[in-house]
Amino acid sequence: MTSISKSKNFYEQSYCDKGITAQRKYPNEELCRFIGRRFGDLSHLQKQELKAVEMGCGSGANLWMLAHEGFDTYGVDFSGEALSLCKKTLESYGVGAKLFRTDMKQTSFDHNYFSICVDVFSSNCLDTNQGEQFISEVYRILKRGGTFFSYFPSKCSDAFQEHLPSKLIDQNTLNGIYRKSSPFYCQPYSFRFLYPEEYISLLEKSGFNVTYSELISRTYRSREETFSWCVIECQKK
Ligand SMILES: C[S@@+](CC[C@H](N)C(=O)[O-])C[C@H]1O[C@@H](n2cnc3c(N)ncnc32)[C@H](O)[C@@H]1O
Repeated sequence: MTSISKSKNFYEQSYCDKGITAQRKYPNEELCRFIGRRFGDLSHLQKQELKAVEMGCGSGANLWMLAHEGFDTYGVDFSGEALSLCKKTLESYGVGAKLFRTDMKQTSFDHNYFSICVDVFSSNCLDTNQGEQFISEVYRILKRGGTFFSYFPSKCSDAFQEHLPSKLIDQNTLNGIYRKSSPFYCQPYSFRFLYPEEYISLLEKSGFNVTYSELISRTYRSREETFSWCVIECQKK
């Protein structure tokens, strides 16, 4: 089984078993900060002119907020079950978005189509080669000056530093999270981490100008485990 079909099967099953509780219900805080920071001054009408896509939108916890803010909103996920849940989430908030069932590293959107592309804890399911393809795809579908926001696992996390019995399948990617005390234990698919400097270098090599880069850390299991996230914002040159 390929690594993509492994993660696809995992997510499909997880959404079937747990329904809306499989993922978060409310939007990611760093995404909210990004929207406030960059688009907070725009009117609803001005935001309607901006096409925004979330890659790996899952059950719509971020997407409903983007649609509610007024963006012309699109969601991509390879799980049909996720998109059914996402449709219900959007309906429950009285908003709409265009949903596409496809692999995030190879979409059928036109070149230069979006003003905003968002990745919240999704492209980490791709290994290093696939991750590079994904960044090229994001570059392709963004307009010049368009912004990519990403919330991505950092290698500073204990989950990466002390990953055994998980194994590295390339320099950045574990074959899953198999240490029982780790956050996200039991995720049996490719799970990629990057240091912020590595992520910045990948983005710059792909033609982006990185305009914001922070490291967010939080503890899990009553402060026993620290998990860190790269929060990155960049623009297509
Ligand atoms: C951890 S969930 C995050 C969902 C959402 N971004 C959120 O913050 O609530 C990761 C999502 O990415 C999707 N996903 C993973 N790999 C994908 C791929 N190659 N193409 C499309 N969707 C993918 C999964 O189906 C899942 O819904």
